[in-house]
Amino acid sequence: MIRRLWSPYDGQPMIIVDNLTRCFASGGKSLVAVDRLSFSVKEGEVYGLLGPNGAGKTTTLRMILGLLQPTSGDASVDGFRVSQFPDEVKRRIGLVSASAGLYQWLSPREMLLFFADLYSIEPAVARERLESLVDLLDLRRFLDQRCSTLSTGQKQRVTLARALMHDPPIMLLDEPTRGLDVVGTHVIFEYIGHLRSMGKSVVVSTHRLDEASQICDRLGLLHRGTLRHEGTFAELQQVTGCVTLFEMFLQLMNQPSLMSNSLTGGLSG
Ligand SMILES: Nc1ncnc2c1ncn2[C@@H]1O[C@H](COP(=O)(O)OP(=O)(O)OP(=O)(O)O)[C@@H](O)[C@H]1O
Ligand SMILES: [Mg+2]
Repeated sequence: MIRRLWSPYDGQPMIIVDNLTRCFASGGKSLVAVDRLSFSVKEGEVYGLLGPNGAGKTTTLRMILGLLQPTSGDASVDGFRVSQFPDEVKRRIGLVSASAGLYQWLSPREMLLFFADLYSIEPAVARERLESLVDLLDLRRFLDQRCSTLSTGQKQRVTLARALMHDPPIMLLDEPTRGLDVVGTHVIFEYIGHLRSMGKSVVVSTHRLDEASQICDRLGLLHRGTLRHEGTFAELQQVTGCVTLFEMFLQLMNQPSLMSNSLTGGLSG
């Protein structure tokens, strides 16, 4: 019998990242890509994982999803420890990532129904979900076109639909606006708003600092694998003395000694 750490209704966070650490060996040296990282995300909450290139965002998301084993620490998803129940965890997560390719020879319709089948969703339910995702993401015009012929923005919409096909309670979005124009970016922000209204828990990694402050309920600022600041945008403004996220970033990157703060509960290195 499967043993959850908690039942989904007792108010526990949907995602708990607990002291996650990941080291990589590269060129004879060891690199600590993620260093004792801890944070949690509640039901219906949008958490922004922000950080410059190489900060450890993708590595963190891959560990939450169970695609990459942590060197130490663990994460729990909807009450399931990732290390113990990787399949239960994957079932509960939808991933949107630039590196997740589409099947070029299939149309969006074929691909979405194929994914529904992989998740053992009843065909009638799958068709219903397909219809609602087509409406939500405006896929109708290119639904039966081969994926190889779609524009970047159209492909991104199909990727967003695919992540929702199995109706997971948790969504991980890794740089979802990469390569998109303002309209494509707007679609992503609407999508995230929709996810929140559906009660889903979302972790979004992004460089779009301007919009992150608007769409995220809480933000974690990651630098060199450690969480330097965490809180609501207003809390971050207060603790850093900065007005914009951009200023916070500059401060973070230029003053590596500014590592401690009260909001991270002592997690920052
Ligand atoms: N498989 C790997 N082998 C060796 N080093 C890796 C591997 N994956 C990631 N790294 C290193 O770990 C660090 C964190 O990488 P990660 O991809 O998590 O950063 P990121 O915050 O997602 O950056 P970006 O904004 O560029 O996507 C980087 O220094 C990267 O080079
Ligand atoms: Mg990345």
